Amino acid sequence: MENDKYFVIDFDSTFTKVEALDVLAEISLQHHPEQPQRIQKVKEITDAGMDGSLSVKESLEQRLSLLEAKKEHIDALVERLKNEVSESFKRNRDFIQAWNKQIYIVSNGFRDFIEPVVAPYGIRPDHIFANSFIYDKEGNITGFDLENALAGNNGKVAQLKKLELEGDVYVIGDGYTDYEIKAAGLANRFYAFTENVERNSIVDKADHITPSLDEVLFLNKLSRAYSYPKHRIKVLLLESIHPLAEKLLRQEGYSLEVHPGGLDEHELCERIKGVSILGIRSKTQVTKKVLKHANKLIAVGAFCIGTNQIDLESCSSRGIAVFNAPFSNTRSVVELAIGEIIMLIRNLPDKSHKMHEGQWDKSARNSFEIRGKKLGIIGYGNIGSQLSVLSENLGMDVYYYDVVEKLALGNASKCSSLEELLKKADIISLHVDGRKENRNMIGSHEFALMKEGVIFLNLSRGHVVDIAALKAAIESGKVTGAGVDVFPEEPKTNDEPFMSELKGLPNTLLSPHIGGSTLEAQENIAQFVPGKIIDYINTGSTTNSVNFPNLQLPRLENAHRLIHIHHNTPGILAGINNVLAGHQININGQYLKTNEHIGYVITDIDKQYSQDVIRDLKSIKNTIKFRVLY
Ligand code: NAI
Repeated sequence: MENDKYFVIDFDSTFTKVEALDVLAEISLQHHPEQPQRIQKVKEITDAGMDGSLSVKESLEQRLSLLEAKKEHIDALVERLKNEVSESFKRNRDFIQAWNKQIYIVSNGFRDFIEPVVAPYGIRPDHIFANSFIYDKEGNITGFDLENALAGNNGKVAQLKKLELEGDVYVIGDGYTDYEIKAAGLANRFYAFTENVERNSIVDKADHITPSLDEVLFLNKLSRAYSYPKHRIKVLLLESIHPLAEKLLRQEGYSLEVHPGGLDEHELCERIKGVSILGIRSKTQVTKKVLKHANKLIAVGAFCIGTNQIDLESCSSRGIAVFNAPFSNTRSVVELAIGEIIMLIRNLPDKSHKMHEGQWDKSARNSFEIRGKKLGIIGYGNIGSQLSVLSENLGMDVYYYDVVEKLALGNASKCSSLEELLKKADIISLHVDGRKENRNMIGSHEFALMKEGVIFLNLSRGHVVDIAALKAAIESGKVTGAGVDVFPEEPKTNDEPFMSELKGLPNTLLSPHIGGSTLEAQENIAQFVPGKIIDYINTGSTTNSVNFPNLQLPRLENAHRLIHIHHNTPGILAGINNVLAGHQININGQYLKTNEHIGYVITDIDKQYSQDVIRDLKSIKNTIKFRVLY
């Protein structure tokens, strides 16, 4: 029953982000010698008026006398205010226009600047109630119309009484005078609007705290810019994720809960309830049991590279998309590899060790430049290919081998077999992924094929090298320098001891899996993962998702986007299209992608549709999750 509802909206700090008289102070006092002090005073009086500790009349009079404003300042103010309309009002312009018969602006501010700011939103002049300035012949503001109800205390109440609205009245505002309407029994609900300012004394009195206009529209089931108000999306961030991630997610309007440590399964089962986005690093185990308790989870962000800690299959079967940061630390690994190559080819680990023991061993024996040496890269993925470019810039001849056809960058040469690369290279660096088949891919047979005196690096995964064979190759002098960052068995925490056959070997650099561990990489991860999640929530794009079919989608323009996630069984697309045809709905665009577990269908449709369509789409067999974006 739409006709029954009236919305009474405040102007300052509600319709606009700012208090107009504060802005006017900046304009009218621009060249005034006491400008900073007066601006401060104006703000203090504004606040005193807002929380009810100063009368409306006094607050207006005191501020106007400080302002010394003129007609031309008001014109400049209007231009400023037009750019300061609250974001949720801007994006819900369609609603405001469509409902202009039932929307009133009631303000203790001044019509002189309110009307030109709200008019483009379709608000009718006869629905604006506010004070008016009095000007002298020169255009100086000399006062305001004291006869106006809104110039006095309880003015909004008096104004609402005069209006005699018949129906439900909802007041949206940030100040005490807005609450007064409800207190006087003239409104059904007072929504404390906190998008711009949050005043505790007002929030305490509210029927509902509303961080945006979307929330009011959502609660009243009215058409709105966002299908789901963003502050209702709860994010739980664990394990001290870099603060940039928190900032980006807050900026998007989500509600955040941040917990510096990890949580065990039991604690996470409790904390995950109601959470829409979970952010973790490598320690938190997202198990089947945890996912069972995750009644609202849409996405998991792994703020790291690996996703072994997440039960990806259960996530898929529950329609939860998982994102990680596969490239964010690649540069760090490449830099470490280059540093190690230079150190090893100069025997630096041994030389440094000797120095610490008091031994001065100055000689050029077995020390070389890297310029002109043949670097063999095994695995030409994100890291391998970047190492290729940087090491070529340092003057190395790059050879690479990959199981997949990869484009050679720069002057790098492709080897057609692993054997060819092993025989050719002076320095070998491993950058393959950790798939099962790669276990011990470099063993005694492979070391035997390498050149005498080769330098060997593994910064990829521990299990890809047979450690006993590497040890033998170092001891025999086949390998004259080794850099190892990853091990088949690694301590789980810094408190556990490190055990390895490689300890104590000559010219061997051992590092505790820190190839990708730099602050820059942490920051890159914190930038990358929220970007992917926000894009998924806003557009449905699944680019780089670990478990969802990857779909890059265009922006949504003037349409509704239906997002349908289902078990990958035949006939779902036909089912969706049958439902849409049955409701005579026009499809503007449709995208489908599947993987072995799930199917992902995006359908953009014309704006008008009935709730029955949604019900029918949700009831298609094998549907896992369904959401509508607009
Ligand atoms: P990627 O997946 O982009 O590249 C791996 C490449 O290796 C792919 O091109 C693949 O086709 C190739 N490959 C796989 N098996 C092969 C084989 N048997 N022979 C030849 N080529 C093979 O991975 P990305 O991002 O370049 O990472 C490489 C490795 O580095 C991964 O194992 C990753 O876990 C590890 N890593 C280690 C870090 C550290 O802190 N030390 C940090 C980041 C990654």
